[in-house]
Amino acid sequence: MPDLKGKVAIVTGASKGIGAAIAERLAASGAAVAVNYAKSATEAESLVRRIRNGGARAIAVQADLSQPAEAEKLFKRTLEEFGRVDILVNNAGAYEFLPLSGIEEEHFDRLFNINVKGLLFASKQAAAAFADNGGSIINISSVVSTSPKPNGSVYSATKAAVDAITKSLAIELGPKKILVNSVLPGVTETEGLQAAPEAEFFRNYAVAQTPLGRVGKPQDIAGVVAFLASDDAKWITGQLITASGGLQ
Ligand SMILES: NC(=O)c1ccc[n+]([C@@H]2O[C@H](COP(=O)([O-])OP(=O)(O)OC[C@H]3O[C@@H](n4cnc5c(N)ncnc54)[C@H](OP(=O)(O)O)[C@@H]3O)[C@@H](O)[C@H]2O)c1
Repeated sequence: MPDLKGKVAIVTGASKGIGAAIAERLAASGAAVAVNYAKSATEAESLVRRIRNGGARAIAVQADLSQPAEAEKLFKRTLEEFGRVDILVNNAGAYEFLPLSGIEEEHFDRLFNINVKGLLFASKQAAAAFADNGGSIINISSVVSTSPKPNGSVYSATKAAVDAITKSLAIELGPKKILVNSVLPGVTETEGLQAAPEAEFFRNYAVAQTPLGRVGKPQDIAGVVAFLASDDAKWITGQLITASGGLQ
């Protein structure tokens, strides 16, 4: 398991799904973790209790990251509690699939506000908060960034924007020893997937199209993130790393 002892991580959207698994995994590797959430306080607090019971440090921090000022609040609270930040995992995100004829401005703004604007302003806070020895920003993208599917034009566009931000910031922030990478999950069994009307279609599609023959688990993604957050990955930046069982 990667060694993250002494490091402090912020995981956005960590009250459930992939974010919760990432927070647990980073904590199990020795990091102190800020568990961000927007609405699900009960789930976030119960995750924090589980992490503390395992012997690691954790706090829950409410911040709606679709509003840039809230990112400042998240970092301020984390710095007050832990005194430093070394790792930002930009996981908070929303998905909804609509044909072009059904797309309204609200859908476009909602997905871009959290998936792109939220991620960019959290990254701005991270770059300012990291110490002189740098840090690691890990953006949770999606396979649909590089392989868009029908009815997903807006969601795919948000994740393509995430990957463009990853590549641009990796070059810009490299001289400050800040690593920036994207992880691209395939279909992954989470509360968000379960709530989607197309969940069964996505599961069947994933099993049929995935060389490893199953839907992903949040833990499949968390292990890759923990590696990227560790010193073993300190020579990796600006990369798009697909974690999908081979699903394109
Ligand atoms: N599941 C998949 O198949 C899949 C595949 C590829 C990529 N992804 C990406 O992986 C990430 C996580 O997906 P998931 O399936 O785990 O999602 P999920 O189960 O729906 O959980 C979403 C998380 O994001 C948080 N969140 C939503 N809006 C937020 C906001 N404005 N500010 C702060 N937190 C917010 C939610 O917190 P609250 O509940 O407190 O609002 C929740 O913790 C997303 O970026 C998604 O695009 C997922």
